[in-house]
Amino acid sequence: MIYFDNAATTQFKSEAVKKGILDYLNNPGNPDRGSHANSLSASRMVLKTRIKLATFFDCDDFEKVIFTSGLTQSLNTVIKGLITKKDHVITSIYEHNSVLRPLYQTNCDLDIIEDIYTIESYIKENTKAIILNHASNVTGEIQDIAYAGEICKKHNILFIVDTGQSAGHIDISMKKNHIDILCFSGHKGLMGIQGIGGICINTDVDIKPLVVGGSGIDSFSKVHPSIYPTKLEAGTLNVPGIISLYYALDFIDEYGLDTIYKHEKDLEEYCLSKLRKIDKVHVYREKANTVGVISFNIEGMDAAIVSDKLSNKYNICTRSGAHCAPLVHNHYGTKSMVRISFGLQNTMDEIDILIKGLKEIIYED
Ligand code: ALA
Repeated sequence: MIYFDNAATTQFKSEAVKKGILDYLNNPGNPDRGSHANSLSASRMVLKTRIKLATFFDCDDFEKVIFTSGLTQSLNTVIKGLITKKDHVITSIYEHNSVLRPLYQTNCDLDIIEDIYTIESYIKENTKAIILNHASNVTGEIQDIAYAGEICKKHNILFIVDTGQSAGHIDISMKKNHIDILCFSGHKGLMGIQGIGGICINTDVDIKPLVVGGSGIDSFSKVHPSIYPTKLEAGTLNVPGIISLYYALDFIDEYGLDTIYKHEKDLEEYCLSKLRKIDKVHVYREKANTVGVISFNIEGMDAAIVSDKLSNKYNICTRSGAHCAPLVHNHYGTKSMVRISFGLQNTMDEIDILIKGLKEIIYED
C-alpha cells in the first residue's frame, strides 16, 4: 500500500508512540482524579506533555496548553467561546469548515478575504479577531502568518491560527508571529493518534467553555472552575492520545523539523515536476511556498473516480472531494480535486508508481 493521504492523518507513528500507548493501557489511571500511583503517573505524563507542547509552539505558559478531542473541538471552543454577533472577524477563503461553520454559527460580521496582504484594509472598530490557517489543506499553500501577526499586534486584535496542516511540518513560534491562540491537531503532522488536539493560549483572554462538568477540583461549586487548563477541559482527558503526543514530539525533536520539511518538500517538487509533464493534469496552486500537499484534476475525469482507480488498481491512498474547504473550490471553480499529501514514510519510488498509474488511468482506460 502506498499512503499519500497524510494531510488527513499521518501514516507514520513512531515505535515509542505505540509502546507508550500500550504501556499505559496495561497500567491505566485517570489524571488529577486520584492519589494512587497510576493516577499520579497519568497526571505526570499530562503535565510533561503540556510543557513539551508549550516549548514546541513557543507558548509562554504551559498551563494554557489545553487538550481537546481534536482541531475541530479546539476551533469550536475558541470561536464560540470568544466571538459574539457584535464582533467583526476577518478570515480567508483557504479556511476549513472547522473554522467557517463555527464562525457562521456566531452570526458575527465576517469578512472572508482572498489576499492576506489586503487584511489591514478590512479592519474596523469592532474587529475582534483575525483567524487564519497556516497552510491550506487543499493547495498546501502557506499563509504569511508573520505578516498577519504584525497587523494584529499593531491594531490590538486577537490572532487565532489553525495549524492543522503546518504543525509538525514547519517550525511555529507563537511569540515571533504574535499568535494569541494556536489550535492544533495531534494526529496529522505531529504524528500522534486520532482523538487528541489542543489549544495554546498566549494572552489573557477569557474563552467561555463549550463544555462543563467534572474537573477533579471544586466539586461542590455549581460552576466549572475558571482557571486554565481546567476551565476548558471538562471530563476525563484522552490520556493515550496525550501520551502519543509526548513520544511523537520526542521523535520530531530528534529527527528534526527541518529534515521532515525538506523530505516532504523534495517529494512534492519531484511529484509536481512529473505531474506537470502529463497532459490533462491541472494542478491547483498560486504560491510556491507550500507544505507537502498537491491537489489536481484530470481533464474530463471525476476526481472521485481517479482516487477510486488509484486505490482499487494500484493500492494508492489519496483523498478526493472538496476536503471540507468549499471556498477554495469556489475560487478555482471546482467542486472536487484529487489530493496527494506526503509524509515521512513516502519515497520517490512511490511517486514513480503513482505517475505510472495516473498515465494508465488517463491514456489506457
Ligand atoms: N481536514 C482533514 C483533511 O484535510 C481531514 O483531510
